[in-house]
Amino acid sequence: MTEPLTTTPVGTSGTAPVGIVGTGYVGLVTGLALAELGHPVICLDVDRAKVTALRAGQAPFHEPGVDDLLARHGGRITFTTEPGDVFGPCPVVFVTVDTPPGPSGDADLSRVEAVVAAIPAGTEVVMAMKSTVPAGTGRRITRHLRATGRHGVRYVSNPEFLREGSAVHDVLHPERVVLGADDPAAADAVAALWAPLGAPVVQCDVASAEMVKLAANAFLATKISFVNEIANVCDAVGADVATVARGMGLDSRIGAAFLNPGIGYGGSCFPKDVAALKQLAGNSGYHFQLLSAVIEVNELQKRRIVVHLANRLGNLQGATIALLGLAFKPGTDDLREASSLVLAARLAAEGATLVVHDPVVGDHVLQALPAGTVKVARAADALAGADAAIVVTEWPEYLELVRPGLAASMARPLLVDGRNLIDPEAAATAGFEWVGVGRPDCLPDALAEPGLDLDDVEADAPAPVAGR
Ligand code: UDX
Repeated sequence: MTEPLTTTPVGTSGTAPVGIVGTGYVGLVTGLALAELGHPVICLDVDRAKVTALRAGQAPFHEPGVDDLLARHGGRITFTTEPGDVFGPCPVVFVTVDTPPGPSGDADLSRVEAVVAAIPAGTEVVMAMKSTVPAGTGRRITRHLRATGRHGVRYVSNPEFLREGSAVHDVLHPERVVLGADDPAAADAVAALWAPLGAPVVQCDVASAEMVKLAANAFLATKISFVNEIANVCDAVGADVATVARGMGLDSRIGAAFLNPGIGYGGSCFPKDVAALKQLAGNSGYHFQLLSAVIEVNELQKRRIVVHLANRLGNLQGATIALLGLAFKPGTDDLREASSLVLAARLAAEGATLVVHDPVVGDHVLQALPAGTVKVARAADALAGADAAIVVTEWPEYLELVRPGLAASMARPLLVDGRNLIDPEAAATAGFEWVGVGRPDCLPDALAEPGLDLDDVEADAPAPVAGR
């Protein structure tokens, strides 16, 4: 048997280390943020390879700012596979393991349960739950801990709201800190760690804290599905969703954020948390109808673009389609629930050949894409010879594709902008036929047409009717 990757807590003198269990996005970034705040941090993970890489300063994912913090705080943050390095030495331990959807739609809590099982009897610890769990989980875990004689473990729900791509910024600049606990002293111990960040604190019972996270994510997903449906109606009536969203968003009761239509939300949180909240409500006998629609709209949105393409290209059999962007959003290499995967599978099913590009996603993605897909290193190479290109992820570098010459390199210069990233007129000026989501098409020919003469319109218009 190989020796466990144990570590000796280093840390600043006199300060107790903070423990982290699970070094995914939430765990690693939380640990690095606490190190940035001056705490010694010990991170525990079951994945030996990941721990070995982290000890060598290598992050297991692409996330802006993480490499820099790892390099700067190498002496303050340590990594281990040994639970005894965390449970015992650390008065506060954050649990940040993943809770993926299980086959029934409920969150799979097996990793959380494994952490609870690893807490030795007699441990004095505040266990701060950051993993997203169904409301009621904290109560069940507390009951289980008491039943197994581990009375020194005090449970706090401290949900995390970070976004991938801006995780470091989000953790260091939270808009609120939510703390659910039965024991106010336990909540205070966690609050003290985050106090230097100056965010408002919502202190409440455990179930309410758990619900805040699920409700916040479900609401944001609802906003996206709502604006996606508005975009689809805009398509039907010839309105421009960019203007509609701006006009809506200026109302402070609505707000401008999360009103960007596109080809559906993805990622590790929204799809899972919306499904989990729907399932949680269902298990309690309540049918959360709205969330069923939010999920359905999102699924249809990923496929809708295939219809757009077929309308313009006719049969997709034998067509070459360039997919620009594979990650579920810019700033990350995360492919979980990415719209690109569904879109690629649908296009391949229609007989299209795919050429794909992403600035950070590695070649391993080819295993998840249809056979025969070609991945290129430069976005411009994806366009060459393609019958259409689809902007799937709004990486800023795709703005640079709007330059003379590239449209001409395509078999047909059809640019389907699935994220409304590119300025339509700039695209048309560069020779592309631009098709967006909920926005009028912009074609090179249309720009060349003579402007509308208002005098002519007036001459053609029917005479005003008296009394109107
Ligand atoms: C989300 C929540 O924002 C965060 O608070 C929570 O902790 C985890 O889940 P994340 O999944 O990292 O964060 O990304 P986010 O920026 O919220 O985007 C999620 C998805 O929604 C992406 O696929 C994105 O493209 C999509 N989206 C977002 C839209 O389609 N339109 C929008 O207006 C905003």
